[in-house]
Amino acid sequence: MTKEVFTLRSPDGQKIELPIRKGTTGPDVIEIGKLFKECGVFTYDPGFVSTGSCESKITYIDGKDGVLTYRGYRVEQLAKHSNFIEVAYLLLYGELPTSDQLCQFETSITRHTMLNEGMLRFFNGFRYDAHPMAVVSAVVGSMSAYYHDTMDINSVEAQEIFAHRIIAKIPTIAAAAHKLTAGQPFIYPRNDLKYAENFLRMLFAVPAEEYEIDEVAVEALDLLLILHADHEQNCSTSTVRMAGSSGANPYSAIAAGISALWGPAHGGANEAVLRMLKEIGSVSNIQKYVEKAKDKKDSFRLMGFGHRVYKNYDPRAEIIRKMCHKVLIKMGHLESPLFDLALELEQVALNDEYFIKKNLYPNVDFYSGIIYRALGIPTSMFTVIFAMARTVGWVAHWREMITDPNGRISRPRQLYSGPRERDYLNIEDRVRDHPVG
Ligand code: CMC
Repeated sequence: MTKEVFTLRSPDGQKIELPIRKGTTGPDVIEIGKLFKECGVFTYDPGFVSTGSCESKITYIDGKDGVLTYRGYRVEQLAKHSNFIEVAYLLLYGELPTSDQLCQFETSITRHTMLNEGMLRFFNGFRYDAHPMAVVSAVVGSMSAYYHDTMDINSVEAQEIFAHRIIAKIPTIAAAAHKLTAGQPFIYPRNDLKYAENFLRMLFAVPAEEYEIDEVAVEALDLLLILHADHEQNCSTSTVRMAGSSGANPYSAIAAGISALWGPAHGGANEAVLRMLKEIGSVSNIQKYVEKAKDKKDSFRLMGFGHRVYKNYDPRAEIIRKMCHKVLIKMGHLESPLFDLALELEQVALNDEYFIKKNLYPNVDFYSGIIYRALGIPTSMFTVIFAMARTVGWVAHWREMITDPNGRISRPRQLYSGPRERDYLNIEDRVRDHPVG
C-alpha cells in the first residue's frame, strides 16, 4: 500500500515528503515533526488554528455540522439517556460501564468526597470576597501537599486513585469556596446522595434547616455537567496536557487548567453572558449592542457567541436552550426578562449579516448562565461549575497524555522578532528614547 505524503519544497529547493496520517474521522493531518531537522524551518500558527497538538481517542467535534461525540457517542444521546457519573466513566475508560462497573465507580466517587480537615483550614486564609475560581484553583493546586500517595505519575494505581479523588472532591471544594464568600458554615458531603444532589446540598444547605432537593434542579445540573464534561483540545485541556507533559504532579496540571478556564474567551464566558445581558438591560437596547459587537474599534463582543471549532449551532447550546424552558417553568421564572432578552438577542444576531458571514452562533455558555441563575446559583460560581464538569475531561486527557508512548514534553518554537545580539551598555551610556515596557 502506498503511503500518502504531502510534498513541500524546502528553501534550498529540495523536495520533502511529509507523511499524512488519517484519523477515524475528521481531517487528515500532516506530520511535520521532521520539518525543522530536514528543512531548518518552523511552522507558525498562533492560536493553533491548523495545528493538531496530540493524538486522542476521547472526544470528536465536527464544527461544520455541529456534532460532538464522547468516545463515539453523540452528546445528544448521552444527554437524553445517560447521567454525569456514567459519562465520566465513559470518558475515563473509553466504554459505557456495565451495571456492576457503574455501581463500583459511583461508590468509589461518593466515598472520596470528604476533604482533609487541614485543607478546610486553608480556605480561611482567603479574603471573604475572593472570587471562587481563585479559591478553587489554589485549593486544587494545594492537594499535592495533602495527597502524597498520588505523586508517582507513572504508577497506574496512583493515576486511578488521583482520577477518582479529584472527581469526587471537586464539588466539595467548589461548594466550600462558595460558603466562604457567603459567610456560611461549610456543609460536609453526604454519601447517600448522587453527584449533582450532593453538590446542590453542599452549596445551598444551612445547618439551621432541612434542605429539600429539587428534582428539576438536579436534572438540569446533571445535564449541564454532561455537556461541559469534555471538548477535545480546548484551551484549558491543552493547558492541562502541557503542564502535565513536564511530569508535574496531576493536581498542579488540573490547577493550571482551572486558571486557563477562567478567562472570558473560554469558561468565564458564562459569567460574562449574564453580566452582558444585565448591561443590555432591555430589548430596545439590543441593536445598539449588536452594532458595538460589530464595530472593530470597540472591544465589546457578544459573549456566548462564536466558537473556534463550531461554524454552526453548538449542539450543546440547543440542548441547554430546551432545558432552560423547563427550569424557568419549574422555578416560576417563565416571565424572566433576562431569558426573553436572550431569546431576542439570539434572533437579532442570527439574522444579522455580520454574524451570518462569520458563522457566529450561540455557544454552550449563552444559555447555561440563565439556568444557573434560575437555580439560585450566584454568578461567580458559574465558571466553577464548568470547572467541576470539565475536571473529568481534564483527567481523561491527562491520563491519555501521560500514557502515550510517543509523549514528549510540550515545547513549542517561535518566530523571534526581538533585537539581534548586541553588546551590554554601561548605565551612563544609555539613552531613554523609547517607551518603558
Ligand atoms: N462577537 C463579535 N464578533 C465576534 C465574536 C463575538 N462573540 N466572536 C468572534 N467574532 C469575530 C471576530 O471579531 C473576528 O472578526 P474578523 O475576522 O473581522 O477579525 C471573527 O469573528 C473571528 O473571531 P476570532 O476571535 O478570530 O475567532 P477565535 O476562534 O479566535 O475565537 C472565541 C473564538 C470563542 C474566543 C470568540 O468567538 C469569542 O470571543 N466569543 C465570545 C466569548 C465566548 O462566548 N466564549 C465561549 C466559547 S465556548 C465555551 C468555551 O470554549 O469555554
